[in-house]
Amino acid sequence: MALIDDLRSIEERALAEISAACELEALDAVRVGVLGKKGSLTAVLRGLGSLSAHERPAVGKVSNEVRATLESAITARKETLSASALADRISAEAVDVTLPGRKRLPGRAHLISQITAEIIDIFVGLGYRVAEGPEVERSYYNFTALNHPLTHPARAATDTFYVMEPGSGPIEPGATTDVLLRTHTSPVQIRVMEKHKPPVYVIAPGRVYRRDIADPSHLPQFHQIEGLAVDAGLTFGDLKGTLDHLCHELFGRDRKTRFRPHFFPFTEPSAEVDVSCGICEGSGCRFCQNTGWLEILGCGMVDPNVFGHVDIDSEKYVGFAFGLGVERIAALRYDIPDLRMLVEGDMRFLRQF
Ligand code: DAH
Repeated sequence: MALIDDLRSIEERALAEISAACELEALDAVRVGVLGKKGSLTAVLRGLGSLSAHERPAVGKVSNEVRATLESAITARKETLSASALADRISAEAVDVTLPGRKRLPGRAHLISQITAEIIDIFVGLGYRVAEGPEVERSYYNFTALNHPLTHPARAATDTFYVMEPGSGPIEPGATTDVLLRTHTSPVQIRVMEKHKPPVYVIAPGRVYRRDIADPSHLPQFHQIEGLAVDAGLTFGDLKGTLDHLCHELFGRDRKTRFRPHFFPFTEPSAEVDVSCGICEGSGCRFCQNTGWLEILGCGMVDPNVFGHVDIDSEKYVGFAFGLGVERIAALRYDIPDLRMLVEGDMRFLRQF
């Protein structure tokens, strides 16, 4: 019968469309197209009334079968599509908990700040106070009051950064002015003694500047720590004992120290202090240039001429002073081959300390 063939072909086409529908909307469009009010199956059912009484039951039976088949096919397809839509959403919104998180590294003090704090602690433990002075300094404090003659080579514009005075023009090449970037922390000695009469026990950390090209052992800007003690009856033995203590605290009890005669304009006698090489333990290696010793600071007994500038009676009082380079201490303690590594800001290096 032609009508039954029509029903079967509607069924066949609709089943194909149902299984081809990839989204719920498409599936619903198929449903409306067949089973909806104006759907193709509905149209056939409407025509049932015009059939003869003996045709009607057979056609009615097939159309009910087709309706049931399509409805259950649509329901099944709907379940599949909903499940896969949910799966898609879950995977799209999924958080990959196995991804490593972003580490927030806490800040920390730079190695130079750490060593400075450590040295301050050592001296505070001995009863010293911390003093400070300006980085932009007068040549009087940096040189003159520290007994540097006018002809001293460190005063030359090739060694020291000079700063123009407020209101004056740019300085001529090679010329000097009265204002400079301090070349050491020793001028703090003068500023302290101008204000405080003995007994004086101070430590003065700070930044200093020299016209050097940066290389493995030089930086144009670095850090020093100055020490000054002025009291009645101090001796070179007190200076030695103090610096021995410093070296042992900084490098360990097993390290030896030695004092070598040296010259500084503001101390007499003066010495340089060496600590035994920690790499070869004194037998000589490349690190200590085969001497077994590493120079760590300069020191001496305050020259009476310096006391003259600050009105301290050198018959009554004796002073000792010392100055060390913090970058150098860091390099010696941690075998840092190039001082520039301390200012490059590479966290892979700095994080080690
Ligand atoms: N100011 C010296 C320098 O920069 C270091 C120094 C040496 C400081 C001897 C002192 C000292 O106080 O007594 O090289």
